[in-house]
Amino acid sequence: MKPAARQPATLAAHAVGFSDPIHGAIVPPIHPSTTYERDEDNQLINAARLYSRADNPGYDAVESLLTQLEHGAASLVFSSGMSAATAVFLALQPGDHVIVPPVFYWALRNWLSDWATRWGLKVEAVDTAQPALVAAAIRPGTTKLLWVETPANPNLAIADIAALAEIAHHAGARLVVDSTFATPVHSQPLTLGADLVMHSATKYLNGHSDVIAGSLTTHVDDDYWKRVRLMRNQIGTVLGPFEAWLLLRGMRTLFVRVPAQSRSALALAENFSSHPAIKTVLYPGLASHPGHAVAAKQMHGGFGGMLSLRVNGGAPAALALMRKLQIWKRATSLGGVESLIEHRASVEPPAGGTPDDLLRLSVGIEDAGDLIADLEQALG
Ligand SMILES: Cc1ncc(COP(=O)(O)O)c(C=O)c1O
Repeated sequence: MKPAARQPATLAAHAVGFSDPIHGAIVPPIHPSTTYERDEDNQLINAARLYSRADNPGYDAVESLLTQLEHGAASLVFSSGMSAATAVFLALQPGDHVIVPPVFYWALRNWLSDWATRWGLKVEAVDTAQPALVAAAIRPGTTKLLWVETPANPNLAIADIAALAEIAHHAGARLVVDSTFATPVHSQPLTLGADLVMHSATKYLNGHSDVIAGSLTTHVDDDYWKRVRLMRNQIGTVLGPFEAWLLLRGMRTLFVRVPAQSRSALALAENFSSHPAIKTVLYPGLASHPGHAVAAKQMHGGFGGMLSLRVNGGAPAALALMRKLQIWKRATSLGGVESLIEHRASVEPPAGGTPDDLLRLSVGIEDAGDLIADLEQALG
C-alpha cells in the first residue's frame, strides 16, 4: 500500500523517517569522520563519500527535510547563513548586475557593497517592497539575480514573491529569497516562483541559540546549483557534523515552536500598537502594516515571531526601556526559544539608516502575558 503523503509537521518530527537498520535507533548518528575508505581495487566503498569538505552523511536527513518542507529539488547546509548567502553571489560572474533591497541583513549588505563590489558584481539597491520600481530597474540579460528578504530584518518590510519572480524571470534573472524570518512553517517561496530559498538556520530552524548554520534550497538542480555546491566544497564552508546533528534535532520541533512564537508576536504587536510610549509597531500581521495584504497572501498560519518597536524619545528612551527588562534578554540574533531584544542602531553601521529609536524583538516560547507585562513595566 502506498503511504499517505505526510504533513510538514510530521516530516519534521520524524526527521524524514530515519530509523537505523542495524540497531533500531530512532535518532540518527553523528559522523565525525573526515575521510572515507577505498577498497583493494582503489574504489570508494561508498561512491558518494570521499572527504568531509564535500559532504557528510549527517547532512542527508536535514537537507532532505529542508527540500521537502520547501518543495524544492535539492538543499545544501552551510557553516552559517552568511556562507549560504555569499555562495549564491559567488556562483555568479564578475560584471553581473544584481538587485538587492535597501534594507536587509546588514552584514550581507556590507559584504556586497564592499567585497563583492570589488570582485566585480554590480550591486544596485531598489525598494523590493515596490515591484514597479524593480521592474523599472531590472536590466534584461544583464541582471542575473534579484535578492529579497521577506519579512526583512529589521524593518519587517514585505516583498511580493510572486510578482518579483515574474519580473525576474521576464528579464532572465533568478529570484532568491532569504526566508529566515518567515520559516518554512509560514511560507514556501519556491512554490510562489522563487528559484532559491535561503535560511540562516542559526535562527528558527535550529531554534535554540546554540548552532551557527545556513541553508539553501533550489527549485531546479541545474548548472548554477552545481556551481553553488562546488563553492561550498572549494571554500570549505561546510557545517560541522555535530552542528548538523543539532540542527536536525532543533528542526524536529519547528512546527511547535514557530506557530507559538508567531501567536505571541501578534499578541505583542496588537498590545503595543496603541501604547502611548510606542511610536510604531512594525509587524506584518497588523492590518496597519503597509505589507499586510501581500504578507496575508503569501504567508499562512501566522506572520512570524519577529517584530520591531519604534519608541517615542529616540535612542535614550529605547536604551532606558531595555535597561529595565527582567525577562527579555538583551542580545543579538533571533529565532531561539528565549525572547531577545536588541537596539539595532547600536550594532549596525550608521550608513544602514536603521532608526535609533528601533528595538528589534525576537519572541520566544515563554508565556505571552509575561513578555507583555515585562515590556509594560519597563515602559513605566
Ligand atoms: C535575515 C538574516 N539573514 C542572514 C543572516 C546571517 O546568518 P548567520 O548569522 O547564520 O550567518 C542573519 C543573521 O542575523 C539574518 O537575520
